[in-house]
Order: sequence, then structure tokens, then C-alpha cells
Amino acid sequence: MVRLSDEQYRSFTKFLEESSGIVLGDNRQYLVASRLNPHVQARGYSSLGELIDALCSGRDASLRAQVIEAMTTNETQFFRDGYPFEILKHVLFPEYQRNHGGRLRLWSAGCSSGQEAYSVLMTAQEYNDAGGRIEVEVLGTDISRNMIEQARTGRYHASSIRRGLSAERLKRFFTQIDAETWEVRPEIRRRASFRQHNLQDSFLLLGKFDVIFCRNVLIYFSQETRRDILTRMAEILNPGGYLMLGGSESIGRQVDCYKLVRTPHGTIYQLQS
Ligand SMILES: C[S@@+](CC[C@H](N)C(=O)[O-])C[C@H]1O[C@@H](n2cnc3c(N)ncnc32)[C@H](O)[C@@H]1O
Repeated sequence: MVRLSDEQYRSFTKFLEESSGIVLGDNRQYLVASRLNPHVQARGYSSLGELIDALCSGRDASLRAQVIEAMTTNETQFFRDGYPFEILKHVLFPEYQRNHGGRLRLWSAGCSSGQEAYSVLMTAQEYNDAGGRIEVEVLGTDISRNMIEQARTGRYHASSIRRGLSAERLKRFFTQIDAETWEVRPEIRRRASFRQHNLQDSFLLLGKFDVIFCRNVLIYFSQETRRDILTRMAEILNPGGYLMLGGSESIGRQVDCYKLVRTPHGTIYQLQS
């Protein structure tokens, strides 16, 4: 394995946290090497240390985006964890149909390759198929340009399809393109839009939301960054709006603008009035 000096590792973790919020902690040199080694030769550097020196001195601007790209963990799947979509179907959609004219705008923050956003829209379609009346618009954002480009295509390899999608949903919501590729149907895709966005940047251009899904993203950040992001999310939620975190995540004591709401399907946070 290529070794990094302590100083190079420290400079690298500082760069990564400042540019993406991602905190690596101590002794993750192995992770850095495994993610970045493939880029060393490809970018014409003779060692990982040289690549990191160039990155941290700002000599190679395009390297920055490529390194952030390589350091993000984009693990996701359709209908991940199940219960958030049950809460939408049984609690939030009926509430927004009753009290908000049946319209709901949702932000999938840290959406990776788009499976979460499309799962929300499939859930809305199923709700309407069963007699409901809800109109949902989803914005998916991610720091990774590659993930956003993939999400926009709405095309997924069979290996992604096999994870989390029932045969019934596959048939109802996808068109097969070739032996290994499936595409989300246009009636679902037209309600989703995707854009590259860093959660450390302002949210103001994103508009207002009724629901924010920010699942399995904040776990990579420091407590301080988490608090800042959660506080700024409260500012762009409409009154009474909801925030869904990942199954193992919670708001933490220092953020007091949300209250925990328990439903028969699981818990969600709601903006305090
Ligand atoms: C593990 S995935 C979670 C995907 C999806 N929310 C889910 O739960 O299945 C985390 C995503 O957060 C994105 N991410 C990491 N840092 C980010 C940042 N500063 N701004 C926006 N997205 C970020 C990564 O690129 C990655 O796609």
C-alpha cells in the first residue's frame, strides 16, 4: 500500500472536510489510498503523496472535484428501509391531501443515483392508484456530479433493480431497455428533477419544501456541520413540514426546531410551530 505522511493525511482530511463536510477521522489512510490510488497514474502523478500535495496546494483545480467524487459513499437502493415510504403513504400523503390541496414538494438531499427520489414518486403513484389524490414533486440533489447524471437518466442496471424492487413495481414503473438495463417510466420521471448541490452551500435557490429526506448523509459530517445543515433545513421547510433522517440517525440535543413524531409506521421529525 502507498503510504502517506501524517502531515499529508492531515492536510487531506482538512481539505475534504472544508470542501464537502465529510469527516474521515484518524487512521483512515487505507480508505484514502484505496479510493484515490486509481487516480494517481491516470492523472499523471508518480505517487499518492504527490497527488495529495497538488490537491492541497490548489495547483490542480479539476483534481478537486474528482477527489471529492472518489471520496463520497454512494450506497443506496430503491425503497431503502421501507418505513419512510409507509409513513408517506399512510400519514403524510393523507394529511397533505386533506389540508394542503393535495400538493407536496419533497427534497431528497444527498440523493445519490436517484433511487430514493423515484421511490417517493412510485409511492405517490400507488397512493393515487388506490384512490388518493396527491401531486408530488421531488428535487434530488447530491454533491456528486456522476450520481446526478445517473439519476437524471432514470436508467438502472439489473443489479440495482434487484435490490429493493418487487416484480410488481418493476413491471408497473419501468421499461426494459435491454437485457441488463431498465428505465423509470416517463410519468414518474417527469415529476423528478436533479441538480448538483453541496449541502454546505446555501439552500435558498432550492425553494421551499413540505418534506425533506436527508438519509444516511449527515453521518459523514461533524456534529457542528450537522447542526448547521439541520438548522438551515428548518428555514426552507414550509410551516408544519417534515424531515426524515436515516434509520440510525437523530437530530441531537442542540437542534431544537424540530419535534419527534411517532407514527404506527416509524418516526419522523416535524418543524416546531
Ligand atoms: C450513502 S448515500 C445516501 C443516499 C440516500 N439518501 C439513501 O439513504 O439511500 C450518501 C450521499 O450523500 C452525498 N453527499 C456527501 N457529502 C455531501 C455534501 N456535502 N453535499 C451533498 N451531498 C453529499 C454522497 O455523494 C452520497 O451520494
